[in-house]
Amino acid sequence: MFDLIPLIKAAGYLGIFGIVFAESGLFIGFFLPGDSLVFTAGFLASQGFLNIWNLVSLIFIGAVIGDSFGYAFGKKVGPMIFKREDSFLFHKENLNKAKMFYEKYGGKAIILARFMPGIRTFAPILAGVGKMQYSKFLAFNIIGGAIWGIGLTLLGYYLGSVVPNIDKYIVSIVLLIIFISITPMIVHIFKDKNTRDRILNTIRNKTKYVNKLVVFNWKMNPETLEDAINIAKESDYKNIVIVPPFVFLEEVGKIIRKAKLGAQDLSYKDSRGGSFTGEVSAVELINLGVKYVIIGHSERRAMGETNSTIFSKIKTAMDSNLIPILCIGENLEERKSGLTRKVIRNQIYSGLSLTNRNNKPIVLAYEPVWAIGTGKPDTIESAREIIGYIKELTDQNCRVLYGGSINSRNINDFLKYPEIDGVLIGSASLEPKLFF
Ligand code: PGA
Repeated sequence: MFDLIPLIKAAGYLGIFGIVFAESGLFIGFFLPGDSLVFTAGFLASQGFLNIWNLVSLIFIGAVIGDSFGYAFGKKVGPMIFKREDSFLFHKENLNKAKMFYEKYGGKAIILARFMPGIRTFAPILAGVGKMQYSKFLAFNIIGGAIWGIGLTLLGYYLGSVVPNIDKYIVSIVLLIIFISITPMIVHIFKDKNTRDRILNTIRNKTKYVNKLVVFNWKMNPETLEDAINIAKESDYKNIVIVPPFVFLEEVGKIIRKAKLGAQDLSYKDSRGGSFTGEVSAVELINLGVKYVIIGHSERRAMGETNSTIFSKIKTAMDSNLIPILCIGENLEERKSGLTRKVIRNQIYSGLSLTNRNNKPIVLAYEPVWAIGTGKPDTIESAREIIGYIKELTDQNCRVLYGGSINSRNINDFLKYPEIDGVLIGSASLEPKLFF
Protein backbone atom coordinates (compact mmCIF):
# COMPACT_ATOMS: atom_id res chain seq x y z
CA MET A 1 0.00 0.00 0.00
CA PHE A 2 2.83 2.35 0.83
CA ASP A 3 4.65 1.51 -2.34
CA LEU A 4 2.18 3.58 -4.28
CA ILE A 5 4.81 5.88 -5.72
CA PRO A 6 6.73 3.16 -7.60
CA LEU A 7 3.40 1.51 -8.49
CA ILE A 8 2.07 4.68 -10.07
CA LYS A 9 5.36 5.36 -11.84
CA ALA A 10 5.32 1.85 -13.29
CA ALA A 11 1.61 1.86 -14.13
CA GLY A 12 1.69 5.17 -15.98
CA TYR A 13 -1.42 6.86 -17.33
CA LEU A 14 -2.92 3.70 -18.73
CA GLY A 15 -2.39 1.75 -15.51
CA ILE A 16 -3.96 4.49 -13.39
CA PHE A 17 -6.90 4.64 -15.75
CA GLY A 18 -7.31 0.84 -15.55
CA ILE A 19 -7.20 0.77 -11.76
CA VAL A 20 -9.72 3.59 -11.41
CA PHE A 21 -12.02 1.92 -13.94
CA ALA A 22 -11.80 -1.48 -12.24
CA GLU A 23 -12.36 -0.23 -8.73
CA SER A 24 -15.31 1.86 -9.87
CA GLY A 25 -17.34 -0.86 -11.47
CA LEU A 26 -15.76 -4.29 -11.72
CA PHE A 27 -16.64 -6.80 -9.03
CA ILE A 28 -13.02 -7.89 -8.83
CA GLY A 29 -11.67 -4.38 -8.29
CA PHE A 30 -12.94 -3.79 -4.78
CA PHE A 31 -9.53 -4.17 -3.09
CA LEU A 32 -7.62 -1.72 -5.29
CA PRO A 33 -6.24 1.54 -3.86
CA GLY A 34 -8.57 4.47 -4.47
CA ASP A 35 -8.33 7.74 -2.58
CA SER A 36 -4.68 7.23 -1.76
CA LEU A 37 -3.92 6.37 -5.38
CA VAL A 38 -5.40 9.47 -6.97
CA PHE A 39 -4.01 11.73 -4.26
CA THR A 40 -0.51 10.30 -4.66
CA ALA A 41 -0.77 10.49 -8.44
CA GLY A 42 -1.64 14.21 -8.06
CA PHE A 43 1.37 14.63 -5.83
CA LEU A 44 3.62 12.93 -8.41
CA ALA A 45 2.29 15.29 -11.06
CA SER A 46 3.38 18.21 -8.88
CA GLN A 47 6.89 16.71 -8.87
CA GLY A 48 6.90 16.63 -12.67
CA PHE A 49 6.38 12.88 -13.20
CA LEU A 50 2.95 13.20 -14.81
CA ASN A 51 1.02 15.95 -16.54
CA ILE A 52 -1.71 17.06 -14.18
CA TRP A 53 -4.32 17.83 -16.85
CA ASN A 54 -3.86 14.52 -18.61
CA LEU A 55 -4.02 12.84 -15.24
CA VAL A 56 -7.24 14.43 -13.97
CA SER A 57 -8.97 13.86 -17.31
CA LEU A 58 -8.06 10.17 -17.32
CA ILE A 59 -9.06 9.64 -13.69
CA PHE A 60 -12.35 11.43 -14.18
CA ILE A 61 -13.20 9.50 -17.34
CA GLY A 62 -12.08 6.17 -15.80
CA ALA A 63 -14.23 6.80 -12.74
CA VAL A 64 -17.35 7.79 -14.67
CA ILE A 65 -17.28 5.02 -17.25
CA GLY A 66 -16.27 2.50 -14.57
CA ASP A 67 -19.36 3.38 -12.55
CA SER A 68 -21.52 3.24 -15.69
CA PHE A 69 -20.13 -0.18 -16.52
CA GLY A 70 -20.99 -1.36 -12.98
CA TYR A 71 -24.50 0.05 -13.36
CA ALA A 72 -25.03 -1.74 -16.69
CA PHE A 73 -23.72 -4.98 -15.22
CA GLY A 74 -26.03 -4.67 -12.21
CA LYS A 75 -29.02 -3.93 -14.41
CA LYS A 76 -28.33 -6.95 -16.58
CA VAL A 77 -27.67 -9.46 -13.82
CA GLY A 78 -30.21 -7.94 -11.41
CA PRO A 79 -33.26 -9.97 -12.46
CA MET A 80 -31.17 -13.13 -12.38
CA ILE A 81 -29.92 -12.32 -8.91
CA PHE A 82 -33.42 -11.71 -7.62
CA LYS A 83 -34.49 -15.12 -8.91
CA ARG A 84 -31.69 -16.91 -7.09
CA GLU A 85 -32.25 -18.95 -3.97
CA ASP A 86 -30.55 -17.71 -0.83
CA SER A 87 -27.17 -19.28 -0.28
CA PHE A 88 -24.25 -18.96 2.09
CA LEU A 89 -22.76 -15.93 0.30
CA PHE A 90 -25.93 -14.56 -1.17
CA HIS A 91 -28.90 -13.23 0.71
CA LYS A 92 -31.77 -11.63 -1.12
CA GLU A 93 -32.42 -9.58 1.97
CA ASN A 94 -29.13 -7.72 1.45
CA LEU A 95 -30.14 -6.79 -2.08
CA ASN A 96 -33.48 -5.55 -0.89
CA LYS A 97 -31.69 -3.49 1.73
CA ALA A 98 -29.47 -1.94 -0.95
CA LYS A 99 -32.55 -1.17 -3.00
CA MET A 100 -34.22 0.50 -0.04
CA PHE A 101 -31.03 2.41 0.72
CA TYR A 102 -31.11 3.89 -2.77
CA GLU A 103 -34.78 4.68 -2.54
CA LYS A 104 -34.04 6.61 0.64
CA TYR A 105 -30.77 8.37 -0.21
CA GLY A 106 -31.00 8.30 -3.98
CA GLY A 107 -28.06 9.64 -5.90
CA LYS A 108 -26.34 11.04 -2.84
CA ALA A 109 -25.28 7.48 -2.10
CA ILE A 110 -23.43 7.30 -5.42
CA ILE A 111 -21.40 10.37 -4.51
CA LEU A 112 -20.68 9.30 -0.93
CA ALA A 113 -19.78 5.77 -1.98
CA ARG A 114 -16.95 7.17 -4.11
CA PHE A 115 -15.05 7.90 -0.94
CA MET A 116 -15.62 4.52 0.66
CA PRO A 117 -13.27 1.67 -0.23
CA GLY A 118 -15.13 -1.48 -1.25
CA ILE A 119 -18.51 0.25 -1.27
CA ARG A 120 -17.18 2.31 -4.17
CA THR A 121 -17.16 -0.83 -6.30
CA PHE A 122 -20.53 -2.23 -5.30
CA ALA A 123 -22.57 0.97 -5.17
CA PRO A 124 -23.01 1.44 -8.94
CA ILE A 125 -23.65 -2.28 -9.44
CA LEU A 126 -26.40 -2.16 -6.84
CA ALA A 127 -27.82 1.01 -8.36
CA GLY A 128 -28.18 -1.01 -11.57
CA VAL A 129 -29.65 -3.99 -9.75
CA GLY A 130 -32.12 -1.65 -8.05
CA LYS A 131 -32.88 -0.08 -11.48
CA MET A 132 -32.20 3.50 -10.47
CA GLN A 133 -33.22 5.82 -13.32
CA TYR A 134 -30.17 6.02 -15.61
CA SER A 135 -30.24 9.79 -16.17
CA LYS A 136 -30.35 10.34 -12.44
CA PHE A 137 -27.57 7.82 -11.91
CA LEU A 138 -25.41 9.43 -14.59
CA ALA A 139 -25.79 12.91 -13.11
CA PHE A 140 -24.68 11.77 -9.66
CA ASN A 141 -22.01 9.59 -11.17
CA ILE A 142 -20.51 12.62 -12.95
CA ILE A 143 -20.71 14.83 -9.86
CA GLY A 144 -19.15 12.11 -7.68
CA GLY A 145 -16.51 11.33 -10.27
CA ALA A 146 -15.58 15.01 -10.46
CA ILE A 147 -15.39 15.64 -6.72
CA TRP A 148 -13.47 12.45 -6.12
CA GLY A 149 -11.37 12.06 -9.26
CA ILE A 150 -10.61 15.69 -10.00
CA GLY A 151 -10.87 17.08 -6.46
CA LEU A 152 -8.62 14.58 -4.69
CA THR A 153 -6.07 14.52 -7.49
CA LEU A 154 -5.83 18.30 -7.53
CA LEU A 155 -5.53 18.30 -3.75
CA GLY A 156 -2.45 16.06 -4.06
CA TYR A 157 -1.11 18.29 -6.80
CA TYR A 158 -1.75 21.45 -4.84
CA LEU A 159 -0.19 20.23 -1.60
CA GLY A 160 2.76 18.84 -3.57
CA SER A 161 3.32 22.27 -5.10
CA VAL A 162 2.96 24.47 -2.03
CA VAL A 163 4.24 22.41 0.90
CA PRO A 164 8.03 22.16 0.87
CA ASN A 165 9.46 18.63 1.30
CA ILE A 166 6.00 17.11 1.26
CA ASP A 167 7.45 13.76 0.15
CA LYS A 168 8.57 13.28 3.76
CA TYR A 169 4.97 13.31 4.93
CA ILE A 170 3.35 11.58 1.99
CA VAL A 171 2.96 8.24 3.81
CA SER A 172 1.28 9.94 6.79
CA ILE A 173 -1.00 11.91 4.50
CA VAL A 174 -1.97 8.78 2.59
CA LEU A 175 -2.67 7.02 5.89
CA LEU A 176 -4.81 9.95 6.97
CA ILE A 177 -6.76 9.79 3.72
CA ILE A 178 -7.34 6.08 4.14
CA PHE A 179 -8.44 6.66 7.72
CA ILE A 180 -10.82 9.47 6.75
CA SER A 181 -12.29 7.43 3.91
CA ILE A 182 -13.07 4.39 6.01
CA THR A 183 -14.31 6.29 9.06
CA PRO A 184 -17.86 6.93 7.78
CA MET A 185 -18.21 3.25 7.00
CA ILE A 186 -17.04 2.19 10.45
CA VAL A 187 -19.25 4.79 12.11
CA HIS A 188 -22.21 3.58 10.05
CA ILE A 189 -21.55 -0.05 10.95
CA PHE A 190 -21.18 0.60 14.65
CA LYS A 191 -24.17 2.92 14.83
CA ASP A 192 -26.49 0.12 13.83
CA LYS A 193 -26.95 -2.13 16.84
CA ASN A 194 -27.84 -5.25 14.86
CA THR A 195 -24.84 -4.95 12.58
CA ARG A 196 -22.58 -4.17 15.51
CA ASP A 197 -23.77 -7.19 17.47
CA ARG A 198 -23.42 -9.41 14.42
CA ILE A 199 -19.81 -8.36 13.86
CA LEU A 200 -18.86 -8.64 17.52
CA ASN A 201 -20.53 -12.05 17.73
CA THR A 202 -18.70 -13.32 14.68
CA ILE A 203 -15.39 -12.27 16.17
CA ARG A 204 -16.32 -13.77 19.53
CA ASN A 205 -17.48 -17.05 18.04
CA LYS A 206 -14.42 -17.40 15.90
CA THR A 207 -12.23 -17.35 18.96
CA LYS A 208 -14.54 -19.49 21.07
CA TYR A 209 -13.70 -23.04 22.04
CA VAL A 210 -10.55 -22.89 19.94
CA ASN A 211 -8.68 -26.20 20.00
CA LYS A 212 -11.41 -27.80 22.08
CA LEU A 213 -14.11 -30.26 21.15
CA VAL A 214 -17.63 -29.49 22.28
CA VAL A 215 -20.13 -32.32 21.84
CA PHE A 216 -23.84 -31.48 21.86
CA ASN A 217 -25.69 -34.68 22.75
CA TRP A 218 -29.38 -34.05 22.22
CA LYS A 219 -30.34 -37.48 23.56
CA MET A 220 -34.02 -38.24 22.71
CA ASN A 221 -34.84 -34.61 21.85
CA PRO A 222 -36.44 -32.54 20.34
CA GLU A 223 -39.86 -33.76 19.28
CA THR A 224 -40.09 -32.24 15.82
CA LEU A 225 -37.87 -31.87 12.79
CA GLU A 226 -38.57 -28.16 12.74
CA ASP A 227 -37.13 -27.73 16.24
CA ALA A 228 -34.19 -29.95 15.35
CA ILE A 229 -33.33 -27.75 12.39
CA ASN A 230 -33.55 -24.57 14.43
CA ILE A 231 -31.34 -25.93 17.19
CA ALA A 232 -28.82 -27.20 14.64
CA LYS A 233 -28.65 -23.83 12.89
CA GLU A 234 -27.89 -22.12 16.16
CA SER A 235 -25.21 -24.68 16.99
CA ASP A 236 -23.40 -24.55 13.68
CA TYR A 237 -19.93 -23.46 14.76
CA LYS A 238 -16.47 -24.85 14.35
CA ASN A 239 -15.34 -27.35 17.00
CA ILE A 240 -18.93 -28.38 17.74
CA VAL A 241 -20.14 -31.92 17.20
CA ILE A 242 -23.93 -32.05 16.95
CA VAL A 243 -25.35 -35.39 17.97
CA PRO A 244 -29.08 -35.57 17.17
CA PRO A 245 -31.29 -38.66 17.37
CA PHE A 246 -30.98 -40.92 14.30
CA VAL A 247 -34.22 -39.67 12.78
CA PHE A 248 -32.87 -36.12 12.42
CA LEU A 249 -29.36 -36.95 11.22
CA GLU A 250 -30.05 -36.53 7.54
CA GLU A 251 -31.74 -33.12 7.73
CA VAL A 252 -29.31 -31.75 10.30
CA GLY A 253 -26.42 -32.98 8.16
CA LYS A 254 -27.81 -31.03 5.21
CA ILE A 255 -27.89 -27.67 6.95
CA ILE A 256 -24.72 -27.59 9.02
CA ARG A 257 -21.59 -26.16 7.46
CA LYS A 258 -19.07 -25.70 10.23
CA ALA A 259 -20.13 -28.16 12.90
CA LYS A 260 -19.56 -31.92 12.56
CA LEU A 261 -22.23 -34.57 12.75
CA GLY A 262 -22.30 -37.31 15.37
CA ALA A 263 -24.58 -40.26 16.11
CA GLN A 264 -25.70 -41.50 19.52
CA ASP A 265 -24.99 -45.17 18.89
CA LEU A 266 -24.29 -47.75 16.18
CA SER A 267 -24.74 -51.44 15.64
CA TYR A 268 -21.85 -53.82 16.24
CA LYS A 269 -23.64 -56.66 14.50
CA ASP A 270 -22.43 -55.74 11.09
CA SER A 271 -20.88 -52.54 9.81
CA ARG A 272 -22.84 -52.72 6.54
CA GLY A 273 -26.25 -54.35 6.81
CA GLY A 274 -28.21 -57.46 7.68
CA SER A 275 -31.22 -58.80 9.53
CA PHE A 276 -30.93 -56.78 12.72
CA THR A 277 -34.24 -55.10 13.39
CA GLY A 278 -33.94 -51.70 15.02
CA GLU A 279 -30.19 -51.40 14.49
CA VAL A 280 -28.31 -48.72 12.54
CA SER A 281 -25.08 -49.57 10.75
CA ALA A 282 -21.79 -47.70 10.52
CA VAL A 283 -22.07 -47.44 6.75
CA GLU A 284 -25.56 -45.97 6.98
CA LEU A 285 -24.19 -43.34 9.34
CA ILE A 286 -21.20 -42.55 7.17
CA ASN A 287 -23.44 -42.14 4.15
CA LEU A 288 -25.31 -39.44 6.04
CA GLY A 289 -22.08 -37.55 6.74
CA VAL A 290 -21.62 -38.72 10.32
CA LYS A 291 -18.06 -38.36 11.65
CA TYR A 292 -18.36 -39.18 15.36
CA VAL A 293 -20.34 -41.73 17.30
CA ILE A 294 -21.05 -41.80 21.03
CA ILE A 295 -20.51 -45.26 22.47
CA GLY A 296 -21.17 -46.56 25.94
CA HIS A 297 -23.10 -43.61 27.30
CA SER A 298 -24.12 -44.34 30.89
CA GLU A 299 -27.78 -44.08 29.89
CA ARG A 300 -27.23 -46.98 27.46
CA ARG A 301 -25.15 -48.91 29.97
CA ALA A 302 -28.11 -48.54 32.37
CA MET A 303 -30.29 -50.19 29.70
CA GLY A 304 -28.04 -53.23 29.70
CA GLU A 305 -25.10 -52.39 27.47
CA THR A 306 -22.00 -54.22 28.68
CA ASN A 307 -18.30 -53.48 28.36
CA SER A 308 -17.98 -56.27 25.83
CA THR A 309 -20.74 -54.89 23.57
CA ILE A 310 -19.14 -51.51 23.90
CA PHE A 311 -15.80 -52.93 22.83
CA SER A 312 -17.40 -54.44 19.71
CA LYS A 313 -19.01 -51.12 18.85
CA ILE A 314 -15.70 -49.28 19.22
CA LYS A 315 -14.06 -51.77 16.93
CA THR A 316 -16.86 -51.48 14.34
CA ALA A 317 -16.69 -47.68 14.48
CA MET A 318 -12.93 -47.59 14.07
CA ASP A 319 -12.87 -50.12 11.28
CA SER A 320 -15.35 -47.87 9.47
CA ASN A 321 -13.35 -44.70 10.16
CA LEU A 322 -15.92 -43.19 12.48
CA ILE A 323 -14.40 -41.51 15.53
CA PRO A 324 -15.81 -43.10 18.69
CA ILE A 325 -16.62 -40.97 21.70
CA LEU A 326 -16.36 -43.54 24.45
CA CYS A 327 -18.15 -42.51 27.65
CA ILE A 328 -16.69 -43.71 30.92
CA GLY A 329 -17.32 -42.84 34.54
CA GLU A 330 -18.19 -44.20 37.96
CA ASN A 331 -21.57 -44.18 39.70
CA LEU A 332 -22.17 -42.57 43.07
CA GLU A 333 -21.62 -45.71 45.10
CA GLU A 334 -18.34 -46.40 43.36
CA ARG A 335 -17.26 -42.82 43.92
CA LYS A 336 -18.09 -43.02 47.60
CA SER A 337 -16.17 -46.27 47.95
CA GLY A 338 -13.10 -44.75 46.31
CA LEU A 339 -13.37 -47.00 43.28
CA THR A 340 -13.34 -44.29 40.60
CA ARG A 341 -9.90 -45.12 39.17
CA LYS A 342 -10.54 -48.83 39.18
CA VAL A 343 -13.86 -48.48 37.33
CA ILE A 344 -12.37 -46.17 34.77
CA ARG A 345 -9.38 -48.42 34.20
CA ASN A 346 -11.72 -51.32 33.60
CA GLN A 347 -13.88 -49.42 31.17
CA ILE A 348 -10.90 -48.14 29.22
CA TYR A 349 -9.16 -51.46 28.96
CA SER A 350 -12.23 -53.34 27.88
CA GLY A 351 -12.99 -50.65 25.35
CA LEU A 352 -9.52 -49.94 24.04
CA SER A 353 -6.65 -52.22 24.76
CA LEU A 354 -8.10 -55.15 22.85
CA THR A 355 -8.52 -52.98 19.83
CA ASN A 356 -5.71 -52.65 17.38
CA ARG A 357 -6.13 -48.95 16.81
CA ASN A 358 -3.41 -48.32 14.28
CA ASN A 359 -3.15 -44.83 15.74
CA LYS A 360 -6.74 -44.06 14.85
CA PRO A 361 -8.23 -41.19 16.82
CA ILE A 362 -10.66 -41.78 19.65
CA VAL A 363 -12.34 -39.44 22.10
CA LEU A 364 -12.95 -40.38 25.72
CA ALA A 365 -15.59 -38.56 27.71
CA TYR A 366 -15.19 -38.76 31.45
CA GLU A 367 -18.75 -38.56 32.75
CA PRO A 368 -19.30 -39.36 36.40
CA VAL A 369 -22.76 -40.94 36.26
CA TRP A 370 -23.98 -39.04 39.30
CA ALA A 371 -23.20 -35.73 37.57
CA ILE A 372 -25.25 -36.42 34.44
CA GLY A 373 -28.51 -34.51 34.27
CA THR A 374 -28.37 -33.59 37.94
CA GLY A 375 -27.23 -30.00 37.66
CA LYS A 376 -24.30 -30.90 39.89
CA PRO A 377 -21.05 -31.26 37.92
CA ASP A 378 -17.93 -32.78 39.36
CA THR A 379 -15.61 -30.26 40.98
CA ILE A 380 -13.05 -28.90 38.58
CA GLU A 381 -10.18 -30.16 40.72
CA SER A 382 -11.55 -33.70 40.72
CA ALA A 383 -12.36 -33.64 36.99
CA ARG A 384 -8.82 -32.45 36.22
CA GLU A 385 -7.28 -35.09 38.41
CA ILE A 386 -9.26 -37.94 36.85
CA ILE A 387 -8.73 -36.68 33.32
CA GLY A 388 -5.00 -36.51 34.11
CA TYR A 389 -5.21 -40.13 35.23
CA ILE A 390 -7.07 -41.16 32.05
CA LYS A 391 -4.36 -39.50 30.00
CA GLU A 392 -1.74 -41.59 31.74
CA LEU A 393 -3.59 -44.70 30.57
CA THR A 394 -4.00 -43.63 26.97
CA ASP A 395 -1.98 -42.12 24.16
CA GLN A 396 -1.72 -38.81 22.39
CA ASN A 397 -4.30 -39.66 19.77
CA CYS A 398 -6.91 -39.78 22.46
CA ARG A 399 -8.70 -36.61 23.42
CA VAL A 400 -10.34 -36.55 26.82
CA LEU A 401 -13.50 -34.56 27.52
CA TYR A 402 -15.50 -33.91 30.65
CA GLY A 403 -19.29 -34.40 30.71
CA GLY A 404 -22.02 -34.07 33.31
CA SER A 405 -24.13 -30.94 34.01
CA ILE A 406 -22.11 -28.62 31.83
CA ASN A 407 -23.95 -25.46 30.86
CA SER A 408 -23.21 -22.06 29.37
CA ARG A 409 -22.26 -20.67 32.78
CA ASN A 410 -19.73 -23.27 33.84
CA ILE A 411 -18.30 -24.42 30.49
CA ASN A 412 -15.35 -22.05 30.53
CA ASP A 413 -14.38 -23.01 34.07
CA PHE A 414 -13.61 -26.45 32.65
CA LEU A 415 -12.30 -25.54 29.24
CA LYS A 416 -9.69 -23.17 30.53
CA TYR A 417 -7.51 -26.10 31.64
CA PRO A 418 -5.27 -27.48 28.91
CA GLU A 419 -5.68 -31.11 29.98
CA ILE A 420 -9.45 -30.91 29.44
CA ASP A 421 -9.76 -31.28 25.67
CA GLY A 422 -13.44 -30.44 25.54
CA VAL A 423 -16.86 -31.15 26.99
CA LEU A 424 -19.88 -33.34 26.31
CA ILE A 425 -23.09 -31.47 26.94
CA GLY A 426 -26.53 -33.02 27.26
CA SER A 427 -29.66 -31.08 28.16
CA ALA A 428 -28.04 -27.63 27.95
CA SER A 429 -27.15 -28.26 24.31
CA LEU A 430 -30.79 -27.85 23.35
CA GLU A 431 -30.38 -24.13 23.99
CA PRO A 432 -27.25 -23.47 21.97
CA LYS A 433 -27.74 -19.70 21.77
CA LEU A 434 -26.54 -19.39 25.34
CA PHE A 435 -23.13 -20.79 24.39
CA PHE A 436 -22.34 -18.31 21.59
P1 PGA B 1 -26.01 -33.41 30.93
O1 PGA B 1 -25.72 -34.74 30.11
O2 PGA B 1 -25.15 -32.33 30.30
O3 PGA B 1 -27.48 -33.15 30.71
O4 PGA B 1 -25.66 -33.63 32.34
C1 PGA B 1 -24.44 -35.10 29.79
C2 PGA B 1 -24.42 -36.33 28.93
O5 PGA B 1 -25.16 -36.46 27.96
O6 PGA B 1 -23.65 -37.21 29.18
